[in-house]
Amino acid sequence: MPGVAPEILITEQAISARVEDLARQISKDYAGMGELLLVGVLRGAFIFLADLSRRLTIPCCVDFMALSHYEHGSTPSGAVRLIMDLRVEVAGKHVLLVEDIVDSGDTLAYLVRMLEVRRPASLKICALTWKSDRLRSDVRLDYVGFDIPDRWVVGYGLDFDNKLRTLPYIGVLDEPEAPASRVAAAAKVLG
Ligand code: IMP
Ligand code: MG
Repeated sequence: MPGVAPEILITEQAISARVEDLARQISKDYAGMGELLLVGVLRGAFIFLADLSRRLTIPCCVDFMALSHYEHGSTPSGAVRLIMDLRVEVAGKHVLLVEDIVDSGDTLAYLVRMLEVRRPASLKICALTWKSDRLRSDVRLDYVGFDIPDRWVVGYGLDFDNKLRTLPYIGVLDEPEAPASRVAAAAKVLG
């Protein structure tokens, strides 16, 4: 852990403005379609989901899932395991998956596969941040807050070793921390 506060990548004001934009767009796209089920991926999406959901002007409800990564030795294998499922039924509902960050896209690809077999009326994805340079899974993002560089980011729900989630802005950790943090994150419950 670096001793100093992370360098700011996205300010609190910029996040707030972008969340407002996303909420406006989503409210417009789903207007008149009935209730939208927002599915948050724990733990990282909890702050984004809280802010986004309160700005939507359409009827919605909220549920959560939690995942962990399988590991081979000290390297993440890309395989993902469900550790907490939704409580509500997905069949026939309009579902919006809400993620804090998309890196390789493996987590999202797993979630999409799992939810699609439950026959939702529709399934779309909203990610606050994505590292477009690192995407390797075949996933389509419908709503994206920020395209960010390949650095380890923290704050606004995003963590390093389950710390720094509650920073109001999104910051980057020093370069030397990044590779170690990738392994640390993969070794633990994600989100
Ligand atoms: P994936 O590689 O797209 O499957 O991303 C897996 C998970 O890694 C994300 O949902 C986050 O929990 C975590 N993650 C990836 N990059 C970062 C980061 O820069 N900061 C914090 N968490 C991250
Ligand atoms: Mg996540």
